[in-house]
Amino acid sequence: MVDTKTQYQKIKPAIDKAVVDVMESTAFINGKAVHDFAANLSAYIGIKHTIPCANGTDALQIAMMALDLQPGDEVITPSFTYIATTEVIALLRLIPVFVEVDAKTFCMDPTVFEKAITPKTKAIVPVHLYGQSAPMEEIMAIAKKYNLYIIEDNAQTIGCDYIFANGDRKKTGTIGNTGTVSFYPSKNLGAFGDGGAIFTNDDMLADKMKKITNHGQSKQYYHDIVGCNSRLDSMQAAILDIKLKYLDEYTAARRKAADFYDGAFANQPKIIIPFRASYSSHVFNQYTLILEEKNDPANYRDGLRKFLAVHKIPSMIYYPVPGHRQKMFEHFNTVTQSMPVTDWLSERVISLPMHTELDEEQLIFITNKVLEYVNK
Ligand SMILES: Cc1ncc(COP(=O)(O)O)c(C=O)c1O
Repeated sequence: MVDTKTQYQKIKPAIDKAVVDVMESTAFINGKAVHDFAANLSAYIGIKHTIPCANGTDALQIAMMALDLQPGDEVITPSFTYIATTEVIALLRLIPVFVEVDAKTFCMDPTVFEKAITPKTKAIVPVHLYGQSAPMEEIMAIAKKYNLYIIEDNAQTIGCDYIFANGDRKKTGTIGNTGTVSFYPSKNLGAFGDGGAIFTNDDMLADKMKKITNHGQSKQYYHDIVGCNSRLDSMQAAILDIKLKYLDEYTAARRKAADFYDGAFANQPKIIIPFRASYSSHVFNQYTLILEEKNDPANYRDGLRKFLAVHKIPSMIYYPVPGHRQKMFEHFNTVTQSMPVTDWLSERVISLPMHTELDEEQLIFITNKVLEYVNK
């Protein structure tokens, strides 16, 4: 699905030097590399504070802790997302309230989620899925009306522009009260291990988040609030700082591959290509098709996966079981919740290889094999 090896080889001297520099400095934790990277990332995405942490899951947890959400508070989130989004809600003894997504954008549908708001609702977690923004203006208007926090799960979408109705642009992750990102290796800005960060323009919130990432500490051995140990280590920061310089180039390469796929699959009755919303750029963390077959769509999709695997083409299903149907949430009694769009998508989506190193030969091979299967 990804080719991090070729990507590394292209910038090997700079990466290797950055790692050696950290080793020689021995500032492995919270070193200069971490501060430099946080400052450069803040400048890139246009935010006042970037708080690096250990991974994108912790980033969500820390954001929710800093906003002082209390056990029993309800948090609205799409069911159609990676489990990390919803798991941290339950971990903090908050209540995940699952809502539908829009069948075209795969993101939270603002026309339906207002109905899910109750007096206990405290926050909304829109997920910018696969590399495209959720409809933030509509979401923000509803959040404002009910006085709710917005935590943007931007794990998959670093570098994406949200385009406001008046033409202004902001990077996703910088629009709500806070936003989070993951530097998991396959992400658009991927580390050589785990990593994550939280974004905010709010000074007090940033201060609290920094404390939470370091055991709630204000100064060494003085702990003001309950926190955790969640740090981005200096080696990962040094690597990410090099890769950040290439992020726009990487995004362009992903888009070029997506354009090729789109061109090959256009006008195929059984394939719906990814919708590109006018309010967002698309950074294609994933290239995800909807495969339409009236009888037994999930089986038809599995057939494609098997056919591709025979030809050594990887594919993935993000995500076969939506959040509201996961066993871990059984006690919330959400399994019987009606989510026709989410269920429809879960049976039909399939993601093809998507990364910065896809060349035309590979793309021709992949698209030909997909077309061979659907035209059978
Ligand atoms: C939507 C979403 N949220 C959160 C996460 C969690 O990030 P991490 O794996 O860095 O903990 C991911 C990672 O895959 C994700 O895709």
